[in-house]
Amino acid sequence: MEVPVSKRSHWGSRIGFILAAAGSAVGLGNIWKFPYVTGENGGGIFVLIYLACVLLVGLPVMIAEILIGRSTQNSPVGAFKTLAGDRSPWVGIGWLGVFTSFVLLSYYSVVAGWSLHYTWLSISGQLAGLGPEKVAPVFGQLYGSAGTNLLWHLVFMGLTVAVVYGGVAKGVERWSRILMPALLIMMLVLLGKSLTLDGFGKAFHFLFGFHQDKFTAAGALEALGHSFFSLSLGMGAMITYGSYLRRQDNVVGASVTISALDTCIALGASLMLFPIIFSYGMEPAAGPGLVFISVPIALSQMPGTTFLATIFFALLVFAALTSAISMLEVATSYLIDRRGWQRRWAVVTAGLTIAAVGLPSALSGGTRLFGAGMEELVGKNWFDSLDYLVSNWMLPLGGLGIALFTAWRMDRRLRQEEFLSGSRLRSFYQGWVFLLKFPVPVAILLVFLHAVGLI
Ligand code: PHE
Repeated sequence: MEVPVSKRSHWGSRIGFILAAAGSAVGLGNIWKFPYVTGENGGGIFVLIYLACVLLVGLPVMIAEILIGRSTQNSPVGAFKTLAGDRSPWVGIGWLGVFTSFVLLSYYSVVAGWSLHYTWLSISGQLAGLGPEKVAPVFGQLYGSAGTNLLWHLVFMGLTVAVVYGGVAKGVERWSRILMPALLIMMLVLLGKSLTLDGFGKAFHFLFGFHQDKFTAAGALEALGHSFFSLSLGMGAMITYGSYLRRQDNVVGASVTISALDTCIALGASLMLFPIIFSYGMEPAAGPGLVFISVPIALSQMPGTTFLATIFFALLVFAALTSAISMLEVATSYLIDRRGWQRRWAVVTAGLTIAAVGLPSALSGGTRLFGAGMEELVGKNWFDSLDYLVSNWMLPLGGLGIALFTAWRMDRRLRQEEFLSGSRLRSFYQGWVFLLKFPVPVAILLVFLHAVGLI
């Protein structure tokens, strides 16, 4: 059953859409992942390559996604059905997106749950009371405790369901309008603090110095994969958010603003964390434990631990929540648009299913339900396997499909009209189509070839 376009929910305002879409993009990818992959890849040159990926690959795909959404006023599956025909194989891109949203949110919520746990430890003064030696094992204890993981995973899923339950304007938009400015303010407070630390110069040099010797092809491909994850591309999240826009809204301008905000926040997060890391003798290449182990150890030695740590971990929770909302909205909008469900049932059903799919991830480090067997089989536990699949395969595959569809299959007149409606950037149009035709697919194929070990 199709929902008539006139009845479709829309954003209340242009800034509301920008904040919601930027909220989707700015997430754990920016504050947890970006600093640690930058650290692992030696800083400088990785940052530069990442910027190039955002500009030349991420931005064109984002414009394509939002445009497809706005043009069809439909969530991913319906959008491809409208543009390519009911039985077209292109509809598979939409299905992949809905499937990815279930998988991604199921483990994303576990990491968000860790952030909630640390926020609780910080607010209640426990982190300040522990001192550096006792903070170090906290993460191991959390990771190993099935009950704690489960609790926070469910709390976080509950929060996400509660926001999406409210609908597009009164749920997603309203909360993005509160959480995003709060996130920016908290980040500025912490950046201000980092500026005063001894390690700031070293951190700046690490991030923006040009260390040629650190360049590796694997790092470059990781930068590309991460740009997809960070900009929320390849899953139809931007198609879904775009479908709540009105025709006169400016897609190109909004995409530039969203990508720029996302990139500034990733760089800002690194500029806020690395001075703390360097000032307290921690390692920049600590891997995924950077934010949950190294940073708390450093914070526990700084004056004002409770205040700073609370702000930092709350920031992480806010960032994760606005991203999780967009993942749940993809699943929800499918049930509403294609199955004709009422929003409340759609949200609760999708939320419960995703929470259940997340159980093995929440338990990966604890009871080893699936964990031990899987680790022997594929060398990764359930949680790591899902992250690997989503980041390296599913999102890039979705992105490839969207780029190929827009460049080669979509009706040319419609594509041009859509690009120029709301924005008058005629001169960019040709460049955008060119990028989607050749460089973007080639770059994504390189990521796949690398993933299977062929290059
Ligand atoms: N962009 C989000 C982040 O950086 C993750 C995300 C990916 C959200 C894909 C929606 C879709 O954390």
